[in-house]
Amino acid sequence: MSEGLVTVSYIAATILFILSLGGLSNPETARRGNFYGMAAMALAILATVLGPQVETLWPVVTAMAIGGSIGLYAAFKVQMTEMPELVALMHSLVGLAAVLIGFATYADNSVHLAGIEKTIHEIEIYVGILIGAITFSGSVIAFGKLSGRIGGKPWLLPGRHLLNLVGLIAVIVVGKLFLNVDSGVSGAFFLLIMTGVALAFGIHMVMAIGGADMPVVVSMLNSYSGWAASATGFMLGNDLLIVIGALVGSSGAILSYIMCRAMNRHFFAVIAGGFGTAGGTTVSSAGPQGEVQAITAEETAELLRGASKVILVPGYGMAVAQAQHTVFEITKLLRERNIDVHFAIHPVAGRMPGHMNVLLAEAKVPYDIVAEMDEINHDFPQTDVAMVIGANDIVNPAAQDDPGSPIAGMPVLEVWKARISIVMKRSMASGYAGVDNPLFYKENNRMLFGDAKQMLEAVLTALRAN
Ligand code: TAP
Repeated sequence: MSEGLVTVSYIAATILFILSLGGLSNPETARRGNFYGMAAMALAILATVLGPQVETLWPVVTAMAIGGSIGLYAAFKVQMTEMPELVALMHSLVGLAAVLIGFATYADNSVHLAGIEKTIHEIEIYVGILIGAITFSGSVIAFGKLSGRIGGKPWLLPGRHLLNLVGLIAVIVVGKLFLNVDSGVSGAFFLLIMTGVALAFGIHMVMAIGGADMPVVVSMLNSYSGWAASATGFMLGNDLLIVIGALVGSSGAILSYIMCRAMNRHFFAVIAGGFGTAGGTTVSSAGPQGEVQAITAEETAELLRGASKVILVPGYGMAVAQAQHTVFEITKLLRERNIDVHFAIHPVAGRMPGHMNVLLAEAKVPYDIVAEMDEINHDFPQTDVAMVIGANDIVNPAAQDDPGSPIAGMPVLEVWKARISIVMKRSMASGYAGVDNPLFYKENNRMLFGDAKQMLEAVLTALRAN
């Protein structure tokens, strides 16, 4: 493939990637957006592999066959609830690739540059490895936290901000030394020191973040992986990688901003760590506060039957139980009986951005009855029944009432303002943030204990019986 054809393919791929991002911004166009993304990626890979830069095809094809098979196997095997971990793992691979390409580019002695060109090339390598290493170690820790292999409790070292500052100064000083050396061996030594500092920083940054703030970290690492890819593009002189990396980097940064706003956090405060904690510990400020009132599936059906307005609040438990289809069956039945039913979606419900929207779309729930938190929160006082399906942190009134709570300030769905709220979960266990939930003890709250899918099926049977 000629250089000109490669350039044209890259431009076409860039346009398709931009269309893809545009499509993904709305559930109704998301399928089309995904298709554009797949076409863009296929075009980008073909143009790169068949382009003039690749002289020997077999190593590239072999690597693609191995990587592609692993990716295909993982995609078929992974459960929907494990998706966030998989995404974190993928981010770590982008970071690792940037580090390895950085070292390989530095070791490549076929490139002879001098003066300012040499300096720019070395800065590209240094920055590429730096971002890649932070992305790699941070994403591995995020993977551990999301999959439960590492506890959600923040790991707060004494003087952690000072440690971060020392790390930053070390990176700048070592960078200056790296740019001043002539020998490749000393240069590699400084690169290795910086890589060590960056890996430690990535670990420290994500370990210090409390459970409830993980959504911000996930989107932030998404952004970092984009910048790492962009830096790789600079090192390899690949324009497409630079542009696409910048698209991923900036869209991830916007997502981080949206997440911060949704959780009422300041971005820098989150990445500096320590949120999701109360004075350094994850204490929940109050223990059990009274009696909980349990109800049965039949009583739940009775309450739903007598309601004229119902709001359903899905959370992570709905994803675990794969209860979305049963939820929709109940919704259809209630709507046939002229009961007004809406879904309320919290921006960080579940374990990944848009998690609940994806599940509801899969169950074919119409978009017009699915509302975002800001659109629906003021409707709870006029609601007869608010049914919480496997959600916990996102409906915790302590976020508003208890300034000492680790989730204080996070906006929540105010289900307790409905006439009756029903919480469907298996036990009294806390949610991802590890905080007690006073909602369970409120006088107008009922607990429907059990697996969400089984309980909803029992509710559906009871509704159909009458
Ligand atoms: P959580 O607060 O994690 O609560 C989910 C609840 O579901 C648990 O308390 C659990 O209680 C229940 N559950 C689990 N399996 C169930 C099943 N099979 N049937 C019924 N219930 C089940 O979830 P949430 O309310 O959706 O809040 C999300 C949390 O995750 C927030 O803290 C958020 O910050 C964090 N987070 C979000 C993201 C993104 S981007 N969305 C990423 C990382 C972290 P039982 O064990 O008693 O059943």
